[in-house]
Amino acid sequence: MKIVFLASECVPYAKTGGLADVVGALPQALQRLGHEVIVVMPRYADMNTARYSLRPFLAPMGVWMGNTEEWCAVHTADNDGVPVYFIQFDKYFGRPGLYHDADFNDYLDNPRRFGFLTRAGLQLCKDIGFKPDIVHAHDWHTALAAAYLKIWHWNDPLLGRAASVLTIHNIAYQGVYSGEHYDYLGLQWPNFTPDKFEDHGRINFLKGGIVYADVVNTVSPTYANETRTPAGGYGLAPYLNNKGDRYVGILNGVDYTRWDPATDPLIPARYSPADLSGKALCKRELQRRFLLDVNPDVPVIGVVSRLVSQKGLDLLAQTIERIVDTMLVQFVILGSGEKTLEAFYGELPARYPGRIGSYIGYNEELAHWIEAGSDFFIMPSIYEPCGLNQMYSLKYGTLPIVRATGGLDDSVQQYDEGSGAGTGFKFYEPSAHAIYYTVGWAVSTYYDRKPHLRQMIQAAMAQDFSWERSARAYERLYMQALAVR
Ligand code: ADP
Ligand code: GLC
Repeated sequence: MKIVFLASECVPYAKTGGLADVVGALPQALQRLGHEVIVVMPRYADMNTARYSLRPFLAPMGVWMGNTEEWCAVHTADNDGVPVYFIQFDKYFGRPGLYHDADFNDYLDNPRRFGFLTRAGLQLCKDIGFKPDIVHAHDWHTALAAAYLKIWHWNDPLLGRAASVLTIHNIAYQGVYSGEHYDYLGLQWPNFTPDKFEDHGRINFLKGGIVYADVVNTVSPTYANETRTPAGGYGLAPYLNNKGDRYVGILNGVDYTRWDPATDPLIPARYSPADLSGKALCKRELQRRFLLDVNPDVPVIGVVSRLVSQKGLDLLAQTIERIVDTMLVQFVILGSGEKTLEAFYGELPARYPGRIGSYIGYNEELAHWIEAGSDFFIMPSIYEPCGLNQMYSLKYGTLPIVRATGGLDDSVQQYDEGSGAGTGFKFYEPSAHAIYYTVGWAVSTYYDRKPHLRQMIQAAMAQDFSWERSARAYERLYMQALAVR
């Protein structure tokens, strides 16, 4: 099959979260199964174009938006064998960041920016003669691809036979914007109805994408079930339920070429299940770097996360001081996001010197150090479509402490205190109280049940969440999309 991915982020070029990890790895896995994949994304101003050897590819390219033809250029690069095309259009992408300014204010023209990206991606297929069997959109940013195919390209010799797939990475972000952008987006006023794009007088990108896509999926089976309910669907459950078996969950994979302690070039020492001495060294270096008391016998709990309420880090904030006041543990926290959470976690090391370390910001290397050097990794998410860090943690022998939701529930096996089976510690209630007790459970296992701890580390490191398994599931999804198209 020929497949075009349309997305707002992709590793290593631009990333704010797991979406970029997926778009930077699933295409390669599909290619290994024999498919031909290209990726289309924006060329953001912050991107290091020299480092990634971006080459000019096509200019100019005309893209119709409403009654306006916009003129952009296209650059290209090779991402481990997958051609990536970057839409260069300074009016929309020639500014800092991806979605918002430095103060976290969303760019007001986001609907135009990403509507444009989506149409540009389809136009590019035409200009280069790439005839896709599958147009694969990701999240609200490119969700309109499915609609554009049906509204504008149904009769097109190149795009007319393409089936559309929409992957929802997070249903809370739907792209809901004022109707003033509707003409520019070219979605046709008769479609501005509640069963398609209209949402209380505004435009809902994700809803339109769900309605028009041939098949829809999300990134874990449990999250697929959760989003089918009023509480988990953020208003879109009825539209997902309407899809019937054309809405499924496929667990993400892990790119083990980037996330494997046996080969990871970013960490202080490499290690494997057979010889964990390198992990002890990683822990020592991590404690040094974060100015913690260097002590191999005190458990370190890691956090790497966007600091937003989805991640449950406001709940952790309510109990982290009680944890360090009552248990002999250390915390290492890496994250950026909401200002109040940044301030709280940023100030903790000064209040708990030697016990809590934190770094507010985005830092790829530190993320690897924390995965490798911690004993536990905590993700108390309120909801989690898939979550990648718990799967990275498993590979690094760093036992996850997670709330049993979405992909966290699907990828972590509960510790059994009788047998020592399991790969992590799960709790159910989204509360500070539940976090406190579950951290206590993990810490007591660390001190009092060492054989179980060792058994769990081995079980965790033996887990296989490689992309190949997920890619095969996407292959089946594509076949289904072609069949129902
Ligand atoms: P989400 O996409 O909701 O943020 P995921 O767990 O799917 O959650 O993916 C998060 C990705 O972003 C992981 O690869 C994680 O390592 C990375 N990440 C998040 N915050 C930071 C940070 N401050 N520094 C470095 N990497 C980060
Ligand atoms: C979203 C979700 C996260 C998921 C990622 C990649 O950002 O919040 O759980 O792992 O997308 O699919």
